[in-house]
Amino acid sequence: MTRKIIIDTDPGQDDAVAILLALGSPELEVLGITCVAGNVPLPLTSKNARVICELAGRRDVKVFAGCEKPLQRPLVTAEYVHGKTGLDGIELPAPTMPLQDGHAVDFLIETLRAEAPGAVTLCPLGPLTNIATALQRAPDIAPKIAEIVLMGGAYFEVGNTTPAAEFNIHVDPQAAEIVFKSGIPLVVMPLDVTHKVLTTRARVEAFRALGTPVGHAVASWTDFFERFDMAKYGSQGAPLHDPCVIAYLLRPELFEGRHINVEIETQSELTMGMTVADWWGVTDRPRNAMFMGKVDAEGFYQLLTERIGRL
Ligand code: BDR
Ligand code: CA
Repeated sequence: MTRKIIIDTDPGQDDAVAILLALGSPELEVLGITCVAGNVPLPLTSKNARVICELAGRRDVKVFAGCEKPLQRPLVTAEYVHGKTGLDGIELPAPTMPLQDGHAVDFLIETLRAEAPGAVTLCPLGPLTNIATALQRAPDIAPKIAEIVLMGGAYFEVGNTTPAAEFNIHVDPQAAEIVFKSGIPLVVMPLDVTHKVLTTRARVEAFRALGTPVGHAVASWTDFFERFDMAKYGSQGAPLHDPCVIAYLLRPELFEGRHINVEIETQSELTMGMTVADWWGVTDRPRNAMFMGKVDAEGFYQLLTERIGRL
């Protein structure tokens, strides 16, 4: 049986790889892709999602544009990481498939209402604005969601956007707070995990060696943001953050974590968007998230390369 998912995203090269991983995996049925402002503004994220679908030969996937700014704060983008287009690294044709009519939030609400309880998994790869808006507007959809598997936050790795906060949560902390307080089962892929799935020369060349347009694009994208991340972290390669979400759906045993309490800082400007994770169980606050800490990086790249090779 296939698992129904909705990918909520702000592509972004690593979002692109995550979307391709999902499209290359027969276990998953992508009901739609909902776009949000994040790495780049909404017109670009909703264009990039369609560029990625067309690259994969999947013009049939429904792509919706959603919220153009966070719930309360001004939009912060990350062109310094992803380039001006959000997908810098390779020149790809402008998409010809249309955006769907209607707002991403309406699509989320209508789809979840129409499905049986627990039938759909949400996969947010960017700021949580669309998901929080849907939950606020239609609280009845919460029990319909099987789980939310998201990329965001950090504990041991702390922040990549401010000293205390990871990008997706920092951009819209109010939205993150709504999601983390929703009571919906959450699986979180923080920087603690994503900083362990680093690109290496061999891993990038394995994408290129697939000899397909998709393999070539993935290698070009990873090459592009590797330069930025290596300069920033002094590490061996670049973290492929967002594909961790999809890899978890396919092979959960690649990941290890703890079911703990995670709260979002929304008051202090200094630590805005910090994911305050009770990793050591020092409070009585209720456990609301499976917060991952370890990953089998070799297994992750094997899976990713094999699935990208199917496209
Ligand atoms: C997250 O921020 C974005 O730049 C990436 O696409 C990823 O979702 C990592 O902090
Ligand atoms: Ca992203």
